[in-house]
Amino acid sequence: MSDNRIHVSASREYDVVIGSGLLADSGKLVAEAVPKATKLLIVSETNVAPLYMDTVASSLREAGFEVTEYVFEAGEKSKNIDTVAGMWASMAKAGFTRTDAVIALGGGVTGDMAGFAAASFLRGIRVVQIPTSLLAQVDASVGGKTGIDLPEGKNQVGAFHQPSMVIEDTDCLKTLPKDKFTEGMGEVLKYAFIMDTKLYDKLAIYAEDGKAMDLQNDPAALADIVRRCVEDKAEVIAEDEHDTGRRQILNYGHTIGHVIERNSGYTKDHGICVAMGMGIMTDCCYAAGRMDKDTYGKMIGLINSYGLPADDDITPDDAVSGAMNDKKKRGDVISLILVNKIGEAEIVPMTPDEYHDFLTGR
Ligand code: GLY
Repeated sequence: MSDNRIHVSASREYDVVIGSGLLADSGKLVAEAVPKATKLLIVSETNVAPLYMDTVASSLREAGFEVTEYVFEAGEKSKNIDTVAGMWASMAKAGFTRTDAVIALGGGVTGDMAGFAAASFLRGIRVVQIPTSLLAQVDASVGGKTGIDLPEGKNQVGAFHQPSMVIEDTDCLKTLPKDKFTEGMGEVLKYAFIMDTKLYDKLAIYAEDGKAMDLQNDPAALADIVRRCVEDKAEVIAEDEHDTGRRQILNYGHTIGHVIERNSGYTKDHGICVAMGMGIMTDCCYAAGRMDKDTYGKMIGLINSYGLPADDDITPDDAVSGAMNDKKKRGDVISLILVNKIGEAEIVPMTPDEYHDFLTGR
C-alpha cells in the first residue's frame, strides 16, 4: 500500500486517502476512521461488487468488523427511496446502533445513496466512502452531498453528510470500462475550467501530445490528476460546505447537464451530460461576447480531445423548464455558472427569460 492524504475541513474533519492497493488495506483505514463501530454495511452495486466486494469485506472482517453486504442493481434508475429503504432494513435487521457505519463501495450513485442511508438511519450514522470510478474519486465522494432522484429531477431529496474518510484506490481506475473513464473526465475538465489553470495546462499538453485517450494507461499522471481535483474540491468545501456561496461553481455544466440526463431517462451518463453542459455554456458565452475566440477554441477543443461531446440538441424551452427544479434556483432566479476565462468561474443569476435568451443566442 502507498498512499497520500488530503485533509478536508468541514463540519466533520476527515482525510481523503489516495493511493495504490488501498482496497486490500481498507480494514485498517476504516478502523482508524470509525473506531467505535463494530457493525458495517457495505453498499455496492451489481457491476462493482463482483470486482471488489470480496477484497473489501475480507479486509474489514480481518480488522474485526461484523459485515453485512447490500448489493443493488447498477444504474441511476436504482437511485430512489426503495433502494435506500432496503439499506435501512438491512441495518435494522442486523441490529445497527448509532456507532456503527456504512461503507459506500462504488461510483457516484452508490456513494450518494449509501451516504443518504447513513445520514438518515437512526438520525445519522457514520459513512466511509470508497469510490471506485474516476467520477466518484475526483468529485462525488468528497464534500458530503448525498441523496436520491425523483421523477421530477435529479438529486431532489438528500442531505449534507460528510464522510469520516474517503479511501481512493487508484488501481480501480485501470480496469474501469472506457466509457466510464471518459465520463469521469467530464468532471476532471470541470475543475480545470473553473479554478485550476495548472491542471488545464497539464491536460492540454497531454492532448497536444496525442495522449489524451491514453491517460487511463498512465497511473502516475492519473494519480496526480485525481489528487489535484480532490485538493481543488477540498479548498472549495472548506470555504462553503453547504453550497450557499462558492461551492456553486462546482455546478458548472450541471444546470443544463442534469436536464439532458433526466430527459434521456438516465441513459446518458452524468459526466457526459456535464461535458455537453459545459460545451453549451461555452457556446453561449462566446455568442454573448463574454469570451474570446481563442478561449472558446481551447475549451471546446479540450472537451473533444478527451472523447467527450460538447453539444446536445436540447431546446432552450426544455432547458429552462427543466432548470425550474434545479436546487441552485433561488425564488425565480437560476444561478448559472459561467467560465469566460479558463480557471475562473462566476455565479450569474438569471431570470428564466434571461436564461432563455442566453441559450437562444448560441
Ligand atoms: N458535485 C458538486 C458538489 O459536490 O458540489
